[in-house]
Amino acid sequence: MSATSSSASGAPRAAVTATGHFVPERRLTNADLEELVDTNDEWIRKRTGIVERRILDDDQATSDMATEAAEEVLDARGIGADEIDVIIVATVTPDMQFPATACLVQDRIGASNAWGFDLSAACSGFLYGLTTGAQFIESGRFDTVLVIGADTMSAITDFTDRTTCVLFGDAAGAVLLERDDEMGLVDAVHHTDGSGSRFLCMEGGGSRNPPTHRTVDEKMHYIHQEGRPVFKFAVTRMADACVEIMDRNDLEPDDVRYLVPHQANLRIIEAAANRMGLDAEKVMINIDRFGNTTAATIPLCLYEWENDLQRGDGIVLTAFGGGFTWGASYLTWAYDS
Ligand code: UT7
Repeated sequence: MSATSSSASGAPRAAVTATGHFVPERRLTNADLEELVDTNDEWIRKRTGIVERRILDDDQATSDMATEAAEEVLDARGIGADEIDVIIVATVTPDMQFPATACLVQDRIGASNAWGFDLSAACSGFLYGLTTGAQFIESGRFDTVLVIGADTMSAITDFTDRTTCVLFGDAAGAVLLERDDEMGLVDAVHHTDGSGSRFLCMEGGGSRNPPTHRTVDEKMHYIHQEGRPVFKFAVTRMADACVEIMDRNDLEPDDVRYLVPHQANLRIIEAAANRMGLDAEKVMINIDRFGNTTAATIPLCLYEWENDLQRGDGIVLTAFGGGFTWGASYLTWAYDS
């Protein structure tokens, strides 16, 4: 049900050495949603913290956003795509069931020496991807790993369901992982509890309910979320994971430069920050502008706050999502922008 990891002392660390992102231009505001469903700006702001979200054009898909984010990473780091060894795309909205979105990105950016795969862990996808990518570097087997979180949530959102359509948006974020002797991923705590699967899922389109007229009629190709039970789990589990990672690493609030939380609900984020004893200015929050972009929220934050980070800064990343999946990671930042 749960697992933890930390690199052995003296072993190389996997450090973030560049970030990138993509957000679509089209904005969907709370006022726009008032036209679509029985909701209002005050309810959405008060219950979630969201003001607007971005929606991808109909002729685009997750790999398009992931490719843009990947190219920005390569530009920022000043390396060629042929130097990438591994590409991990965390997503629940791949372009297709197969091939993996990572394969499409590999081709689009021309990463001729890379292999890659998709990772499905919903809102914890990037956090899981970071740990997975770090293993390749810590083991010494690979040098350069691209970890991308990208989701086109609008493709699986029922815009007649007010309980979900106000929450989600589209975006991609990406980081490059490379070896560093001192800085990088220090520790990670991950959990899974599949008994929560029924509260947050997309029931149609897989082998349990292959797509048919019936699955479409019954709207099984859309996100199903029972908000209240998910909230209850999220608000305690995310905070628990943050406290767990702090305890395991003897971290005091002063040791944490930033908390980088998954952006599902401002109230969940604030609960985690409170339990950690962190002031509000130490918490990366952009849910107001982008909503819940699933696997993209954390790398998008890293991209946006990169200029505030310096080598040696301690940051805690945390997520909770469908599965249930959740966890927290402790990372020391490797570069000054
Ligand atoms: O990222 C993956 C993990 N997901 C999460 O962490 C999400 C966790 N859940 C949540 O963030 C919250 O449960 C929501 C934001 C989804 C909902 O907030 P809530 O405070 O739990 O509201 P609720 O579901 O208890 O609904 C309260 C009321 C209900 O009306 P009644 O039964 O009290 O009359 C809903 O029907 O609000 C109603 N409602 C709305 N009203 C206006 C539900 N959605 C809306 C809406 N606009 N969009």
